[in-house]
Amino acid sequence: MNVVIIHQSRTGNTRRAAELIGGAAAAAGATVAVRPVTNIDYKELAEADLVFVGTWVDGLILFGHRPGDTGKVRQIPKLWDKQVAAFMTHAVNPGNAATKLSDVLEGHGATVVAARSLNRRRLDDEAPAFAAEVLASVSAAA
Ligand SMILES: Cc1cc2nc3c(=O)[nH]c(=O)nc-3n(C[C@H](O)[C@H](O)[C@H](O)COP(=O)(O)O)c2cc1C
Repeated sequence: MNVVIIHQSRTGNTRRAAELIGGAAAAAGATVAVRPVTNIDYKELAEADLVFVGTWVDGLILFGHRPGDTGKVRQIPKLWDKQVAAFMTHAVNPGNAATKLSDVLEGHGATVVAARSLNRRRLDDEAPAFAAEVLASVSAAA
């Protein structure tokens, strides 16, 4: 299975989550590429069976949660017919930002198979666990 993980990160947490997801997918036997949104390989993306797209949670902690830098996320080539897992990182409260990222990606042509925000302090646990869950659900459906 070819897995591409695309991330938009300002301070490194989402990039780290992407790398951890990539490590877990590689350990499960997938061919993996981890890319910032600014450096996407079109051929690699076209050949992907599963794409993870991640960004950070923007908001006012208690309300107004939304995916950060959605303008950049929308620059990803259209994800028609791709199975996509949305991930985010947050500090304390993601609100419903993961659902909103999922909506952005669906609007971009993706079939979203999962959406989750990961606590930036627990990435070592939460990122590989999310990757394992998504891989299991995708291979069960194949
Ligand atoms: C402008 C701004 C708003 C933020 N709002 C929230 C928020 O509402 N809830 C939250 O849990 N974290 C919030 N955060 C924290 C980030 O989501 C968190 O640090 C994230 O892991 C950053 O990802 P990055 O390192 O990939 O840029 C905010 C950060 C910034 C810069």
